[in-house]
Formats: sequence, structure tokens, C-alpha cells
Amino acid sequence: MKNEKFNFDELVDRHNTHSVKWDKCENDDVIPMWVADMDFKSAPCIIDALKERLEHGVFGYASVPEEFYTSIINWFERRHNWKIDSNLIDYTTGVVPAIDAVLRAITKPGENVVMLTPIYNCFFTCIDSNNCNAVEVPLTYNDDYSYSIDFEALDKALSDDNTHTLLFCNPHNPAGRVWTRDEMLKVNDLCLKHGVTVISDEIHCEMVMPGHDYTPFASISQDAQNNCITCGSPSKSFNIAGLQAAFIVSNNSDIKTKVNKALIDNQVCSINPFGLEAFMAAYNHGESWILQFNDYICGNFQLMRDMINKELPAFHITPMEGSYLVWIDITSTGMTSAQVTQKILDDGKVIVNDGAMYGKAGDGFIRINIATQRSVVEEATRRIINAMK
Ligand SMILES: Cc1ncc(COP(=O)(O)O)c(C=O)c1O
Repeated sequence: MKNEKFNFDELVDRHNTHSVKWDKCENDDVIPMWVADMDFKSAPCIIDALKERLEHGVFGYASVPEEFYTSIINWFERRHNWKIDSNLIDYTTGVVPAIDAVLRAITKPGENVVMLTPIYNCFFTCIDSNNCNAVEVPLTYNDDYSYSIDFEALDKALSDDNTHTLLFCNPHNPAGRVWTRDEMLKVNDLCLKHGVTVISDEIHCEMVMPGHDYTPFASISQDAQNNCITCGSPSKSFNIAGLQAAFIVSNNSDIKTKVNKALIDNQVCSINPFGLEAFMAAYNHGESWILQFNDYICGNFQLMRDMINKELPAFHITPMEGSYLVWIDITSTGMTSAQVTQKILDDGKVIVNDGAMYGKAGDGFIRINIATQRSVVEEATRRIINAMK
């Protein structure tokens, strides 16, 4: 429905729903702000599509229809000016399984895979499970607590004869950056110079704060399109991650054949029928929901940032250009990030992530998931402040 206003303030009790995020709470008083899923109901267009599928009552193996591919193609062309060749798309059960399969397809055991750190922890496990070496190139940490790419260090890491792959995250979890076209052009130039293929995880792509624009890596130039394999899903942005459906866009048909073989070797034969319906509903009808969601998250961020800036001068917040994960430098407290995480849990009853899990460059930081109702963000921030004061 056009002009429909979605109510992100509505509280949803997630206790006793077999939620990874909420099951970690030892009692009802704890607020979980760790793993990246949201406490909002998904978009009504998605819930309606799922209800219709549920009513059918038969849940056998799903085949993936043409509409799955067109939903991706139309969404990315309409919203992000990226034209995707339907012959280069594969489906799979998640973005982590996608990355794992792509690494299996294009790397050999013992090779280096370069990443800009701090970075999403499962990148390390995917590299490890493919018997490759994770090479961390720390992002430059600027005076205003923002991050940028250290192109000199990246150039050096990519020049290693044993390096053929860069595992990139656009927008970047947890550094909060929505990479610009110019930055990615420079990254791709370095990759081309050294014969390095880019795998770009773009799962956070729809969640972008006002004033920033998500640009698909593969859309920045023909050279980039030829050099980049994209892994994505509407799962993170529409809160349907538990339904497990994702896509891979290969850069050419030879790579697509290899990726397809890797998926089959990993026993991915089909996706969940509910995941399929939710995926297509999100891309076909979810636009107004995600736009309102982004406005709401921006309000959450401003609230938390202003409260913390006022009350906790030892916490330094990185500007959040995208996603819903607040990244905070706690080194001025004189405590480790593990100690701060524990203190926030013990004294504040809030669960946050210790930044050390995102690579060495994440040590000294915490990550807070603010994809929850404004009143919960306010209460959690108050508790964090009281615990740390
Ligand atoms: C960058 C990034 N990639 C992938 C995932 C998880 O993807 P999936 O659940 O589809 O495997 C996450 C989850 O937080 C993420 O932050």
C-alpha cells in the first residue's frame, strides 16, 4: 500500500521464540544488542507472502522460479543502477555459505585472502574452512573516529605472489563505512594491478543513513564488474535472516560454473520455500518499508550518540554511515573491550559484542546493535552509561 506508515515503535516480545539473540539472555531483564538481527516485525508485504505460502500447507522442496532472478535484477537496476546478467546469478542459503562456496571455487588451499579489518568475524572462519590464510590489512582509523582505506598497505598485501583474492565488505561491518565509488575504483585498480579477484559481501547494502549512497562494487566500472563476485541477500535489511536465502552474482560464466560446482559440493541443492517467498516479496514490494526503517535507525543512532557523548566522554563513537551497528572505541576507559563488554552485562544487563572478535584491529572497541525499538535503545543506553560511569 502506497504511503503506508510502518510502526517501528511497536514492542515485540521475542522471549521463548527460539531466537539466537534472545536465548543468550539469562533472565528477562537482559537486553541483547549483539548478533545482527532486528527486533522489528518484518515488512507487511513479506508477512503476507509468508501467510499465503503457509496456508497452502504443503512444504516440500522448493524450485527457484524465474521471478527470483527478476526480483534481484529489477531491484538492483531500479534502486542502485546496477544491471545484472541473469545468467550469472546463483542462489544459496546465506551469505556466509555464499562466501564459503566462492572461496572454494576460486582459491587453492594455502593461498592468502586479504581483508580490511576490523571485519565481520565469519570472514575468518570461511577463509579458515577453505584452508587459506587470512591476511588483515587494518583500515586507517582517523581523528574523528571514522575509518578509511590504507591504500599503501592494501597495495603491499595484494602484491604478494600468494594473494589472488580480496574479501571486501560493502557497506563495511563493523566499521560503519558505506564505501564511495572513488574508494572502490582505487581498490579495484590495485586488485587489477596485482591480478586479485574481489569477493564483495553486500548484505548490509539497503541500510544506509541519510547523506550516504550505497554503490554496488560491480557497478562502478566494466573492469570492476569483470573482476568482482557479489554475495548478497535481502535477509539482513528485511529481518528475514532465519529464512535463509541469498544470491551470488559471478563475474563470468566460467567462474559461475565453478561457483555452482562449489555450491553442489557443499550440498546446497535447494532453498527453503518460505525463504524464497520472503526474498521475492522484499525485492518486489519492500522499498517503502526499508526507507522508513533507515529513517528510524538514524533516529536511534542520534539518540544513543547524543546520550553517550554527553555522559561518557571515554566512549568515542564511529560515524555510522550504514547498517545498524554502532562501533565504539573504549580504549580511553583504560579497560579492555572484553572487560567493558562484561561490565556492561554484569552491571547494565545489556549484551554487546566485544570488538576483538572482528580481528586485531577491533580490540579496544565494542559493537552495539540498535535495530530495536527507540524506547529499548534509550533504556539500554541509560544502563550502559550507568554501568560505565
Ligand atoms: C557482513 C556480513 N555478511 C554475512 C552475514 C551473515 O549472512 P548469512 O546469515 O546470510 O549467512 C552477516 C551477519 O551479520 C554480516 O554482517
